[in-house]
Order: sequence, then C-alpha cells, then structure tokens
Amino acid sequence: MCGIVGYIGEKDAYPIIIKGLKRLEYRGYDSSGVALLNDQGLTLYKRKGKVSDLEEFTESKDKSGSIGIGHTRWATHGEPNDVNAHPHVSGDGKLALIHNGIIENYASLREELSNRGHVFHSDTDTEVLVHLIEDVRKNTDLNLFDSVRVALNEVIGAYAIVVLDKENDDELIVAKKSSPLVVGIGEPGEFFIASDATPIIEYTKNVVYLEDEEIALVNRKGDLKIVNIQNQPVTPYIQELELQLEALEKGGYDHFMLKEIYEQPRSITDCFRGRMNLNKGLIKMSGIDSYEGKWKNAKRIIIVACGTSWHAGLVAEYLFEDLARIPVEVEYASEFRYRNPIINEDDIVIAISQSGETADTLAAIKLAKDKGAHIFGVCNVVGSTISRETHSGAYTHAGPEIGVASTKAFTAQVTVLTLMALTVARKKGAVSDEKYHRLMAELSTIPDKVERVLQTNDEIEVIAEIYKDATNALYLGRGYSFPVALEGALKLKEISYIHAEGYPAAEMKHGPIALIDEEMPVFVIATQGPSYEKVVSNIQEVKARKGKIIAIITEGDKDVKGMADHYIEIPSCDEVLMPLVSTVPLQLLSYHIALMRGCNVDQPRNLAKSVTVE
Ligand code: M6R
Repeated sequence: MCGIVGYIGEKDAYPIIIKGLKRLEYRGYDSSGVALLNDQGLTLYKRKGKVSDLEEFTESKDKSGSIGIGHTRWATHGEPNDVNAHPHVSGDGKLALIHNGIIENYASLREELSNRGHVFHSDTDTEVLVHLIEDVRKNTDLNLFDSVRVALNEVIGAYAIVVLDKENDDELIVAKKSSPLVVGIGEPGEFFIASDATPIIEYTKNVVYLEDEEIALVNRKGDLKIVNIQNQPVTPYIQELELQLEALEKGGYDHFMLKEIYEQPRSITDCFRGRMNLNKGLIKMSGIDSYEGKWKNAKRIIIVACGTSWHAGLVAEYLFEDLARIPVEVEYASEFRYRNPIINEDDIVIAISQSGETADTLAAIKLAKDKGAHIFGVCNVVGSTISRETHSGAYTHAGPEIGVASTKAFTAQVTVLTLMALTVARKKGAVSDEKYHRLMAELSTIPDKVERVLQTNDEIEVIAEIYKDATNALYLGRGYSFPVALEGALKLKEISYIHAEGYPAAEMKHGPIALIDEEMPVFVIATQGPSYEKVVSNIQEVKARKGKIIAIITEGDKDVKGMADHYIEIPSCDEVLMPLVSTVPLQLLSYHIALMRGCNVDQPRNLAKSVTVE
C-alpha cells in the first residue's frame, strides 16, 4: 500500500505534493512526510497520522522548493510513528527516498549493511533500501541512476520508489516492481510522479505507466530516460488519461462513501451502456467475443479475488453455473497460490479487482498464467496492473471509488459478471431465448430500482439509530442472497467496527444460532425467490430465540413484514439480479451506523483502499 508523489519543474513542489498525497490517502494514512530541495538544502518533514496532521505541523515552516517527494504510509515494517514515516534518508544525508511495497530480503540486507558500518534509525525496510543505494554509489563510480539499478538487482520484493539527491536538484530517479507508478509529463522540464493518476490529472493528461523492473530518470531538461533492470533502454509509451477531475471530488456529499452509494444508478448504467443493445437483443463483450472458443469449451471457471471483489465472485458462481452451466470455483486469491492448485489449459480464470493492484490477486494471476490458463480481468481502474496482466477483460466503468469501503465497485462488478454470464450462456446455447431477453430487459430497469432503494434512506437511518450500539450482528441470506449477506457484514464491520458475520441462512442452525439472544440484530435478505419459504423458517428460528430481525423484503411482502422487528422494502426483480438491488440498503445501513458511532467512514482504521502487499 502507501501512496507516493514526486514533482520536478518550475512550480512550488509542496502544494502539489500535499494535494497529491490527499488524493492518495486511500492507500494508507498511518503517517506522511515530504522532502523538499531548496537553497537551504534538503528539508524533511514527517508526521504520524494523516496528511492534514503533516500540513498542520509544517504550517509556519519553510516549504520552498521546486523539486520534492512525498509519501502517505500504510505501515508494514515498524509501527506508525514519526521515525518510521517516509521519506527515509541515507546515512550520509544526501539521498531521500519514498517507497511503496515491501523489501522481502530487507533483514539480510540490513545485516550486511550494518556490518559495513551503516547505522539505521527506523524499523523500516525502506531505510535499508536507501542505505543500499548509498552503499552502491559510494563503492562504485556509478551515478545515482545506475546505482539505483544496481541496488535494485539485489532486492527481492515489491517497490515503487522515488529518489531525490540533495546535491542535484535537476533530477529525480524512479523505479517500480509490483507496485504501481505513473509519470506525468507536464510543461517542458516538468514531471509529476505518483502511485496513480489522481494527483496528476489536473496538471497533465500525458502519462507513462512504468512497467515492472523499469528505472526512469526525469530532469529539468525534459528528459524521460527509461531502462530495464538489465540496463537495456526502453522507449516511453505515452498514454492519454481519460479520468475527469470532478470524479475525484465529493460533489456536495459529506463523504465519498455516500456519494459512491448514490452514484450506483449511474455507474450500473455506465457499465451496461455500450455493451447491451436491447433493440437488437445483443450483448457485446469484446473480451469474450475475441476468445469465443475458449469460453465455449471451458471446462471450469476459477475466480480469484479478495474482500468485496471476492463476494462479487461468489455472485458470479451462481450466475455462471445457473445460466452458462460451467462449473465455477471461487478462490481467495491469497490462499490460491499457496496450495499448489490444479489449473488446466482449458480453465478460464476470472480475476476481479476494483483497484487492479491487489497483490494477492496479481500473484494468483501470475501463477494461473504460468500454468497456461486463459485469464480474464474485471477491473475498475483503467490501465491498472491487473488489467494489463490479463489476456482479456472488461472494465466496470464505475468511475473512481475513493471511500475505502467498496460500494459502487461491487454493483458494477456484479453487472459486468451478469453480462458475461449471459453472453457465454448465449454462445453455448445454455439459456433459453426467453430467459436471455427477459434478463437483459430486466437488467436495464435495475438503475431505476436502485434509485427507489436510495429513496428509503430516511427509513434506513431510523433503523441505524436503533442498532448503532450493537456489538455483534448476523447477516443471513440464501442462494444469490448469500454473497449479499457476506458483503453486508463486511461493510458493517469495516467501517463501524461492529463484529458482524455473514452466513447462509440455513447454516445458522449448525452453530451461529447459539449466539442469538435479545441483543443480537439479525439482518436477513428475505426477498421473493425460490428459497423465500425456507428463509421465512429461518427467521422464525431467530424469533424463537428472541433475536431482532431486520429484513430486506420485496415490496408488497406480507409474511416477513408481520414477523420482522424492522423491514426495508425493495422493488421486486428476478433473483438473478437481486444482489444489485438488495446490497444497496445494507450499504446505507452501515454508512449511517458508522457515522452515528463517530467513525471515519471514508478512511476506516487499519485499512487501505489498494492492498499492494501480500
Ligand atoms: O481493489 P480490490 O477489489 O482488489 O480490493 C479487494 C479488497 O481489498 C477490497 O474489496 C476490500 O475488502 C474493501 N475494503 C471492501 O470494502
């Protein structure tokens, strides 16, 4: 995780860096720091806490300089404090370095360097790296650019780094492996460096995404020189950003999470617009059409993902098995590679990731690719590492998701996966014409249905007030609603810190029922569908033990309405599409509960939006 920003040019570096760090705070907010170069030499400010704490700390201090680097940290090695905050400085005080990633062999490097007289002040792997670069430079005739490359040859792990030399205010050196890094090209002699394009977008649209094991030098003459780790030159590939600045603002909402929940009618529409043509009765998924044979002959689909994306993967399991009749396995990406999985060439691996940078998912992709499987990516962030590592894919087009708790990305993922399942089912002849056209038509009505759920916000707020002090909560659902129960529980626990568990409703009687007493809120997705009657029985089991039932029900339902302590009515739709609608009230409920408990909704403790460490 961690966010990095660098600037070189004519402008004041500090405001650009601070603004950029705020945009990247979703990547971690344990501490932050900046290093600036000016007439006084190297100025370094570091602070535990958020970027706003750093800003406060530097308020009356000298922040001049037209070259600098900044960092916002998600702690891996060493507790979050001022000392462990980046930038880290070499022993001779000449180099400052910021780093996103993990140097896995840092302990042995640290020992070697200590034996050669290096003294370390922090617990971080990053300090070891800057000392290593210093060591190479001191003991060879190499310039800084080559010293960085030689040092990185000794490093095992992941890194996106920017190095600033106190004695040379003309250049910055950057490098990356397995952590993202973008170079923005501004006015002549001006460069912006960042973990993603969000800090860059208001200055330039021209960017170069560095590939793994590439090292670049940018300077005031306007040079952008790139080599790979073997010192072979690489021609920069300049891309134009499509990102809009407005998408990065709160747009009048109190929190990004709330804005993103309310954006869902639009983001779901953006997801199927251009792919689904109701008049022609067609869905166009070019990532599937170009590999039609592979999809038609696939013996199995393996889905790899983490967190909320894993829940979207569970919905996809129901979709692909139900509609396309292909067996599906849904894997936690973090577990997948560590158990020597059986992967065949006629398997298709779907990797789902909002950020497109999740290290566990990336590692799972690499393993499956090595074993010859076809890899399909479902990513939100355009140009992200996962979207580039896959053979084909489909973007979710949800727009930037800034709140750490994933909301609109989930519904967009489920929308794409629904389109994919329908496309493959159609190609295989596994779905009837009637069902195919009916589901397509119904999908086009989902944005309106989500809009109607959003209109129940006030009622949801009232329910939130009643349960805001709960210490535990259960979420139950069956069939397509089971992943929704898991997602509802994850939303509540990650932003309100209430312990919550999602369960298949029928599984409750095999253990969790022991937890139920009059204090326990049980959120049940009890919408109309094939398992409705069974869920009603499960509700009765909870009621018999005095548990409190908060039910998500279909408009017009009478039975559950009569049994539940509280209910939220949502529009009816086919159970295949229900997760797109039934997830939304649970997102709002978590939002309000977290807010009432005084939690930081957009930046919950200990979390980061983009998890780039394994
Ligand atoms: O960017 P990704 O979709 O790969 O991220 C996966 C998880 O880290 C993410 O979904 C996480 O669980 C969110 N905090 C959930 O709200």
